[in-house]
Amino acid sequence: MKKLMPAPQTGLHGTVTVPGDKSISHRAVMLGSISTGTTVINHFLFSEDCLSTVKAFQNLGVEIDLTEDQVVVHGVGFKGLKKPQNYLQMGNSGTTTRLIMGLLSGQDFTTQLIGDDSLSRRPMKRVSEPLSLMGANIQTTSGHLPVSIMGQDLHAIKYQMTVASAQVKSAIILAASQADGPSEIKELLPTRNHTETMLNAFGGQIKTSDDQLTIQVTPKPKLSGITLTVPGDISSAAFFIAAALLVPNSEVRLQKVGINDTRSGILKVLQRMGAQIALDHQNYEGEPFADMVIKTSELSATDIQRDEIPSLVDELPIIALVCARAKGISTISGAQELRVKETDRIAAIVQEFQKLGIQIVERPDGFTITGSNNWQPVETHLDSHGDHRIGMTLAVAGLLTNQSLTLSGEESVSISYPNFFDDLASLL
Ligand code: S3P
Repeated sequence: MKKLMPAPQTGLHGTVTVPGDKSISHRAVMLGSISTGTTVINHFLFSEDCLSTVKAFQNLGVEIDLTEDQVVVHGVGFKGLKKPQNYLQMGNSGTTTRLIMGLLSGQDFTTQLIGDDSLSRRPMKRVSEPLSLMGANIQTTSGHLPVSIMGQDLHAIKYQMTVASAQVKSAIILAASQADGPSEIKELLPTRNHTETMLNAFGGQIKTSDDQLTIQVTPKPKLSGITLTVPGDISSAAFFIAAALLVPNSEVRLQKVGINDTRSGILKVLQRMGAQIALDHQNYEGEPFADMVIKTSELSATDIQRDEIPSLVDELPIIALVCARAKGISTISGAQELRVKETDRIAAIVQEFQKLGIQIVERPDGFTITGSNNWQPVETHLDSHGDHRIGMTLAVAGLLTNQSLTLSGEESVSISYPNFFDDLASLL
C-alpha cells in the first residue's frame, strides 16, 4: 500500500526522460531474434512486460545480453529458433503473447504459452482464428491461455480485420512473413504501425496504403540485424503531461518522446481541450520523436469517438482524469476494447473515480464525465486493480486533492514503468 503525495503549491517543475517505448522494445527483441547478425537496442524499456519477451526468446535459443540501458540480441534467423525445454511464461504481457503466436505458428516445433491470472482472462481467439485461416494449428483453452502452437507451413492470406488491434495485425504480419506468398491485411482503423516500420528497417518488405488501412506483406526469408534507439514511450509520458496540465503553476519538459501519428492521438485531444504542449527538437531515427514542454492550462470538455480510439487507447485512463478537471461534460465512446485490457478499465476507472467524488457515468463502450475543480472524495483508499495504467492514473489523481489518499496494487506500475514513482517525485 502506498501513500499518495499531494502536489506542492508551487506546481510540478523539472525534466524527465521517460523510459523507452514498450511496443517498440518488444518488437525490437522479436525482430532482432529472427534476423541474422547482431541487433543493438538502445534505451530499451527494462520493465516486467518487455523482460517477458526477452526471457521467451532466450528460451527459444536466442542469446540476448542485457546491460544497463542496452540490449544486444544475437539473431538466429527465422529458421534458427529452437523448441523450448518447457512452456513459455508470458507473465502479464498481451503484446508478447499475441505477437509470439503469429511468429511461432510458422515454426517446425510445438510451444505452450501460459500467463498470469489477468492475461489468462484476455481473449486469444482474435489471434488464433485469423492464423488458423493461414493453416496454423493453435489450441486455446476456451479462447484463452494456456495456448499450444503446433508449428505448420503457412499459406498467404487476404484478411479483413474484425477488431482494431495492432497486436492482432502484428501477429498476422509475423505469420505472413513466413507464408508461401504475399498477403494482404485490411484494418478497420489504422492502429500503431511499429511492426511494419521496424520490419522494413530489418530488410523486410511491407507496404502500407496511403490511407494506412491496407498492409501488404511479402515474405522475406532473410532479415538482418540493426542498431536502433527506442524513443520515450508516449503512453508513459502521458501521466506527466496530464499532471503538468492539471497541477497549478507547473512547467515540465519531457525528453525524446515518440510522436508517431498512430500513437499520438492524446496530443490532438489535449490540444483541442486547450492544453499548452509545445514540441521542441523534433527528430527522426526510425520513429519520430520530440521534446515536450507542458504548462498548466485551462481545459474545456471534449468528445472522443471510435475513430480516434486506436491512436490513444492506452492513454484513455489518464485522459479520463483530465476530462474530470476540464470545464463541461466530456464523453468517450467506441472504447469497448478497454474492457479486455489488463483489467476491465471502464469498470475500474468508474469505480475508482467515484471514490474521488468525480461525476462519471459508465457506458458499455466508454463513459460520460462532468468536469470539476472541486472533487469531494468519499473514500480515500484507491486500488490499481493490478493494472499499471490505472495505478499511475490514480497517482496523478492523488496530486489533485488535499485529502491524504492511499493506493494498493501500486507495484503493478513495474509492468511498463518501474521508476514511475521516483520520476514523479523528482517533479514535486
Ligand atoms: C499494443 C497494442 C494495443 C495496446 C497495447 C500494446 C502493441 O493493444 O493497447 O498496450 O504493442 O501492439 P491492442 O492490439 O489489443 O489494441
